[in-house]
Amino acid sequence: MAEDLRLSSAGGGNGTLRDPRPLKRKHDGDEDESLSPNKKLDTGEGHSQKVATHYNTLEERGLMERNKSRIVHMRNFNNWLKSVLIGEILDMVRRDRRDMCVLDLGCGKGGDLLKWRKGRISRLVCADIAGVSVEQCQQRYSDMKKRSHPNEQIFTAEFITADCSKELLSEKLSDPKMQFDVCSCQFVYHYSFESQQQADTMLRNACERLRPGGFFFGTTPDAYELVKRLEQSDSNSFGNEVYRVTFQKKGEYPLFGCQYDFNLEGVVDVPEFLVYFPLFVEMAKKYNMRLVYKKTFHQFFQEKIKDERNKSLMQRMQALEQYPADDRGRLVCDGVGEYEHAESRAQRTGASLPLGTLSKSEWEATSIYLVFVFEKTA
Ligand SMILES: C[S@@+](CC[C@H](N)C(=O)[O-])C[C@H]1O[C@@H](n2cnc3c(N)ncnc32)[C@H](O)[C@@H]1O
Repeated sequence: MAEDLRLSSAGGGNGTLRDPRPLKRKHDGDEDESLSPNKKLDTGEGHSQKVATHYNTLEERGLMERNKSRIVHMRNFNNWLKSVLIGEILDMVRRDRRDMCVLDLGCGKGGDLLKWRKGRISRLVCADIAGVSVEQCQQRYSDMKKRSHPNEQIFTAEFITADCSKELLSEKLSDPKMQFDVCSCQFVYHYSFESQQQADTMLRNACERLRPGGFFFGTTPDAYELVKRLEQSDSNSFGNEVYRVTFQKKGEYPLFGCQYDFNLEGVVDVPEFLVYFPLFVEMAKKYNMRLVYKKTFHQFFQEKIKDERNKSLMQRMQALEQYPADDRGRLVCDGVGEYEHAESRAQRTGASLPLGTLSKSEWEATSIYLVFVFEKTA
């Protein structure tokens, strides 16, 4: 069920991110590429190559274009979530580090660059399998630097094109002794669960150069939620007008290589793999990583929206849609039942309209994901 801004209920789940400090954050125009428009895929290649081809051929769309999308609020919601998460992690690290060094694993076109700038980090390493995306990321970084005020100290950065599930980043770093304070892995880790070897290599890249006390954190689909929805469906597939997930089989879920195709906004299927979370946690122990936080997007939203700063960031980022729309606007969707939850909430609680909400279909799509944070123990 979709949520609305006036919803308040208990958080639940494992752990709480510690001591989030006040941060002034504006809508930064960063984006979430899991939700970018899709193009046709070149098939017949290995899965990694398919994924690279998919992301390499994604068109850059300007803000105006993105704002017209059926899933604009869902994109903004995911971006809000990443902003809050990144902001809180950096606040924690900043308590005992002046110069923060970050690895953005699966950086894409640099959708989080402005978040790193706001977080006042010192150094960023961006890595991705898709060479075209890495070039665009580098271009964005130079544009950002050029446009910044001469007094602003923008972080230094390096850019690496690599299949991080097969190649070792430590061999490609400009300084092989470099240590990271955090590794951020947003909407990426599930691509590595094709095989144990790949999942382990990605994990090694994320964690081996983290200093003790550093964090590996990210967002990934929740295997439990995916399988639950699959089991409730009459076929090998489930979804709605904005997303569709198609498994090859029902009832058999191998620990690695459990492939499903993810289709967003109706165009193309990208192969992804189930990440069985307890296994992920066990595998991470090899790199001295301890799970300190895990929440579904739903739980994360409920926990973080209680903070007025996050709430106002959400409004600035237009991460929820106004229901009903005002006189000049229109809703992103006119499907029957897409806003019933907002209506019934208003009736149940006496909350006055308009409310901030996501359409039912967008909420169903985004509530597949979870947030995780590991801390390096030694
Ligand atoms: C959904 S996008 C997320 C991009 C960015 N993290 C964000 O949140 O906007 C997934 C990214 O993971 C990258 N990726 C997938 N498999 C990868 C691999 N094996 N090694 C490195 N990057 C990979 C893709 O190229 C793509 O840029």
